[in-house]
Amino acid sequence: MKRIVFATGNEGKMKEIRMILSDLGLPVVSMKEAGIHADIVEDGKSFEENADIKATAVQKLCGDIVLADDSGLEIDYLGGEPGIYSARYMGEDTSYRIKNANLIERLHGVPDEKRTARFVCAISAALPDGRVLRTRGTIEGIIGYEERGENGFGYDPIFYLPEYHCSTAELDPDTKNKLSHRGKALEAMKEKLRSVLEGEAFHEDTDCK
Ligand code: IMP
Repeated sequence: MKRIVFATGNEGKMKEIRMILSDLGLPVVSMKEAGIHADIVEDGKSFEENADIKATAVQKLCGDIVLADDSGLEIDYLGGEPGIYSARYMGEDTSYRIKNANLIERLHGVPDEKRTARFVCAISAALPDGRVLRTRGTIEGIIGYEERGENGFGYDPIFYLPEYHCSTAELDPDTKNKLSHRGKALEAMKEKLRSVLEGEAFHEDTDCK
């Protein structure tokens, strides 16, 4: 039976991923549910490279269709920091309260038009035949002047969406999933996977004749 393994241990992400991919008609399981325990070194130089590294490493271990994502926050005024180091910025164990306060401080005195930033999410799908499919989703915003909102996680309280007059931590989860970098990259990946799966079904059909 075909299935999709998502290379993450994050249950929150799995919930969102299962919801979005549900109409593909394939079971979607986490690495843990697939019984895979791997400590993969993410030493890529871009979000795409890191997603590729995770997806292809896990694909070799299980043989299934494997999806992996890598995401982060790019702040233009800081030359794209924290970027691929978003999770590790100021140390993995440092609280986001401190990381967010530090970023606000580094943008002290910087006007709105120069506070532009985006969340980026790259998703790679490593297929059993060796192909790798890639998608990228982004959401544009500006870095706020203080933390706002209790929803979301990470940098959400300082990521302000001018057209919604709130931070991504003030959006309800459904709205955030629809607008977010990860939601957009996942929707695009779903369409790529659908084409591949429909192509395979077509070949299986013609083989039978
Ligand atoms: P990863 O792709 O799960 O490794 O996430 C990388 C890091 O980027 C997270 O730990 C957060 O710091 C940041 N990040 C990614 N997506 C979001 C988001 O939607 N909100 C807030 N922070 C995010």
